[in-house]
Amino acid sequence: MELKKIAGYAAAERVKDGNVVGLGTGSTTHYFIERLGERIKEEKMDILGIPTSYQSFLLAKDSGIIITTLDEHYIDIAVDGADEVDNDFNLIKGGGAAHTLEKIVDESAEKFVVIVDDSKLVDALGEFPVPLEVIPQACRTVSDHIKAFNGIPSLRMAERKDGPVITDNGNFVIDVKFETINDPAALEKELNSIPGVVENGIFAGIVDEVIVGTPEGVKILKK
Ligand code: 5RP
Repeated sequence: MELKKIAGYAAAERVKDGNVVGLGTGSTTHYFIERLGERIKEEKMDILGIPTSYQSFLLAKDSGIIITTLDEHYIDIAVDGADEVDNDFNLIKGGGAAHTLEKIVDESAEKFVVIVDDSKLVDALGEFPVPLEVIPQACRTVSDHIKAFNGIPSLRMAERKDGPVITDNGNFVIDVKFETINDPAALEKELNSIPGVVENGIFAGIVDEVIVGTPEGVKILKK
């Protein structure tokens, strides 16, 4: 947790007075949002936040961050976590099932900063299964498509609720394990072309900067 915290806190220093900020989802962005809220109070900053989930919406509210929407404002900087980051800054996201709105927010930002602990850095994506947000009625048909290109689909089940995880948008999540992912950008497009897939958790080619929490301190990776 300490490594996530130092990455999240370092990212909060990237925000400038007047910024509209995309607020990612997960335990690492929890620290970012918490520290951003503190800065807003301490420095009387004029900041608007655009959440990527109910989790970040509620946390932003508790942290005193004024919320706005994508309809009303453009995003200066988005800060979000990731489940895997490869050497070209391609990501797998969606461990928290929030990747659809995360992708909309993160991709639209002027600058997209990823915050992770060093366990998330990988040479090639794919150890972590790729989450697909799927229209519930398309569960079987999407799974059949996935098997046809050698993925192993698994419907994500909820904890402390019977049955499957239901996303913030009312859909299911299918996690797909691939043997290898050689071309993340191509796979991202292919998965989204399956009828019933709302969005997948590969984020190829949209990251500007990665802030990594390591035992030696914060490391900044830039392209
Ligand atoms: C949620 C996400 C998260 O950003 C990702 O799962 C990383 O989470 P954490 O910071 O808790 O490790 O994509 O959908």
